[in-house]
Amino acid sequence: MAAQLIDGKKVAADIREGLKKEINELKSKGINPGLAVVLIGENPASKKYVSSKEKACEEIGIKSLTHKLPESTTQAELIKLIDNLNSDSNVHGILVQLPLPKHLNEKEVMNRISPAKDVDGFGPDALGKLVLDEPGFVACTPHGAMKMLEAYGIDPKGKHAVIVGRSVIVGKPLALLLLRKHATVTICHSRTPNLKEECLRANILCVAVGRAKTITGDMVKEGAAVIDIGINVTPEGKIVGDVDFDAAKERAGYITPVPGGAGPMTIAMLMYNTVLAAKMAAGMKVEI
Ligand code: GUN
Repeated sequence: MAAQLIDGKKVAADIREGLKKEINELKSKGINPGLAVVLIGENPASKKYVSSKEKACEEIGIKSLTHKLPESTTQAELIKLIDNLNSDSNVHGILVQLPLPKHLNEKEVMNRISPAKDVDGFGPDALGKLVLDEPGFVACTPHGAMKMLEAYGIDPKGKHAVIVGRSVIVGKPLALLLLRKHATVTICHSRTPNLKEECLRANILCVAVGRAKTITGDMVKEGAAVIDIGINVTPEGKIVGDVDFDAAKERAGYITPVPGGAGPMTIAMLMYNTVLAAKMAAGMKVEI
């Protein structure tokens, strides 16, 4: 039987709609959520992501301030910009689009962002809080994956979740979020010797490695929920995920498409974090 499609586009639209109402209420109290996005250089994928973020902000009433800087920007110039944004009270969230050009020290830049404005959730404060189960900004892509499961009534409690990919921005935080929801979690990576066997144990299979067809149909357990977090471009120019969608959907119970799954959810959760940052800056009580 073919899997039920998890429509990330629809779940994201619902989240944005809820945020739009919340933003209108905040504006009536004089709070205008603002997101600063820093884009350096001419990376076409980064430019596309940034324009999607600008569009999403505009649509729901977040003030988006994009700083486009040339490839030749120095570390000192970038640090100075971050410092200015950290102290600008109109800016509630700061996002530095990655990857940065090779000559820049990504770690130093990301660590410079004030923890109160780290809407990407990539900094040590956000990640530490996630480990400690304390309220904080949750990285947008793993948060979006959790929201998709929730929207389709897939409760991780008591399930075996397998994550393929151990990145700091997706795999590791997603493992912690699934753990928080009482799943038993396995993280697989490039040195995992028996990937197929591990995946076949998954009731929830999340894949974030950045390589097309990492997961073939025979690696999916019957009825599993498959969350595909990869974005790859085929030699023919088609956008695909990390999972062989056509084969996997014949065995899975639920599956996210690419595009239209994790991508729009990441942007929706960035909007969510920006609203959260604005509320916290105004001293409002928030539930996270
Ligand atoms: N590059 C690709 N995805 C992201 C993201 O979610 N945040 C940042 N800062 N850079 C990215």
